[in-house]
Amino acid sequence: TSKKITSQHIRARKGGEPIVGLTAYTASMAKAMDAIVDFILVGDSLAMTIYGEDSTVGVDLDTMIRHGRAVVRATSHACVVVDLPFGDYQASPEQAFMSAARILRETGCDAVKLEGGIEMAETVAFLSARGVPVMGHIGLTPQSINTMGGFKTQGKDEVAVQELIAAAKSMENAGCFALVVEGVVESASEKINQVMSIPTIGIGASVDCDGQILVVDDVIGLFEDFKPKFVKRYAQVMPTIREAIETFAAEVRTRQFPSADHVFGRPKG
Ligand code: KIV
Ligand code: NA
Repeated sequence: TSKKITSQHIRARKGGEPIVGLTAYTASMAKAMDAIVDFILVGDSLAMTIYGEDSTVGVDLDTMIRHGRAVVRATSHACVVVDLPFGDYQASPEQAFMSAARILRETGCDAVKLEGGIEMAETVAFLSARGVPVMGHIGLTPQSINTMGGFKTQGKDEVAVQELIAAAKSMENAGCFALVVEGVVESASEKINQVMSIPTIGIGASVDCDGQILVVDDVIGLFEDFKPKFVKRYAQVMPTIREAIETFAAEVRTRQFPSADHVFGRPKG
């Protein structure tokens, strides 16, 4: 396999071959994608995919660290980015630094990601200046679900578009190495792309972004509760999982399992 990808490598990919990102929360999933993708996001979407919550607001720093560590241990190639969770960075640049430092120290990941625009610029500059690579995240920012009034498409009118461009530029100027643009009208995403000199990573944005990311559970059909328009399902693993479970259950109930191959010390023949 190829050389380890860092946040600087991601930054240098602006305008080049599209950057491939996927989420992973566990060692097994990280192993499946490490050699293939450019970066792995240990997203706070794990609140919904792994823990069955209705939003990402309820996840804490210890949980992000635990999953970040599992993913880093299973990774040798992809750049690993861990989400800063709601409540552990918005209060002040100092709070953000303490949380980011714990994530870097305790997981060994390459970078953190945080949500927000102009209001987070001071924090991003504080972190970048102190050795923490930051990926930004604007547009539909799920941690703000309670003030956005639900998961809603962003950039629907000219005022909103100008605000998104200002947010994107502020993240770039503050030192982000890349910027996730989520749930933004395609034409607005394209305007953002035109003004940015760091890579944009789209999710429900535009094919013109410098890269794309999706939640792996959505990509493989492991998360079935709902499917946002921007998700493409590349596999349906749930039926395969259910089939295996049904067969196991049936074999246990009929005493076909365990057979000779799966017990110890049975005389041969
Ligand atoms: O938590 C997450 O999975 C994310 C991506 C959707 C960008 O932030
Ligand atoms: Na997230």
